Amino acid sequence: MARTALVTGGSRGIGAAISKALKAEGCNVAATYAGNDEAAAKFTEETGIATYKWNVADYDESKAGIEKVEAEVGPIDIVVANAGITRDAPFHKMTPEQWHQVIDTNLTGVFNTVHPIWPGMRERKFGRVIVISSINGQKGQFAQTNYAATKAGDLGIVKSLAQEGARAGITANAICPGYIATEMVMAVPEKVRESIIGQIPAGRLGEPEEIARCVAFLASDDSQFINGSTISANGAQFFA
Ligand code: CAA
Repeated sequence: MARTALVTGGSRGIGAAISKALKAEGCNVAATYAGNDEAAAKFTEETGIATYKWNVADYDESKAGIEKVEAEVGPIDIVVANAGITRDAPFHKMTPEQWHQVIDTNLTGVFNTVHPIWPGMRERKFGRVIVISSINGQKGQFAQTNYAATKAGDLGIVKSLAQEGARAGITANAICPGYIATEMVMAVPEKVRESIIGQIPAGRLGEPEEIARCVAFLASDDSQFINGSTISANGAQFFA
């Protein structure tokens, strides 16, 4: 029977590639988005993938959204916590607002997304939790104390969930993408971006599809014994 997958932030960037890859694997996919109605409508029109709007930083909104997806698409077997934002600033300039926005969305957002789905996965004795972390959670990054803290936190979440879910047939893994050709990376000032590309031995940015293929494997029934892992996909920029 086809699996049901939920991808947060699944209508743009890496998330859009993940939604499409899971659909290509035969999953029924629901993709969430936070605000860009136009992009989401275009995505649904082009791919046939249903989109749902909620703020992952809000627990009640997430829970209600997930209940709607489960009623309309099916009980969620695969959850990809991908939604994330940046509010980059050197630490001495970072405001409490920038700190909290990133923590609430990127870190608490993972709790808000997985927590309402977890009991159903335990009951059905199957689940795939895949969290999109980052190279910058592994190595830190100038101007990203907030973002790096959340992405390092993701690794602690999956290692803990892996231990809790293993006997219930649930796996939890993280992927740490390096710098991928998405709007988020294109928003980095050009000079800085060029210098970052210079630090990537592969000599290029990654493609969203290269991350999506890792997700498709981790989401498959074949990956059962891979649990609590961190997969780096960064063109040899950093070895954890
Ligand atoms: N390492 C060391 N020094 C750095 C630096 C770095 N990586 N980046 C900037 N600096 C230096 C600058 O040269 C400058 O030094 P001077 O004052 O001596 O000239 C100083 O730090 C920056 O000072 P500013 O006051 O000009 O900085 P700003 O307040 O304007 O902030 C910035 C600029 C936000 C840091 C901007 O440079 C930036 O966006 N940098 C990119 C940060 C980054 O890599 N973000 C990753 C986004 S992609 C992503 O997050 C996806 C993923 O998972 C990989």
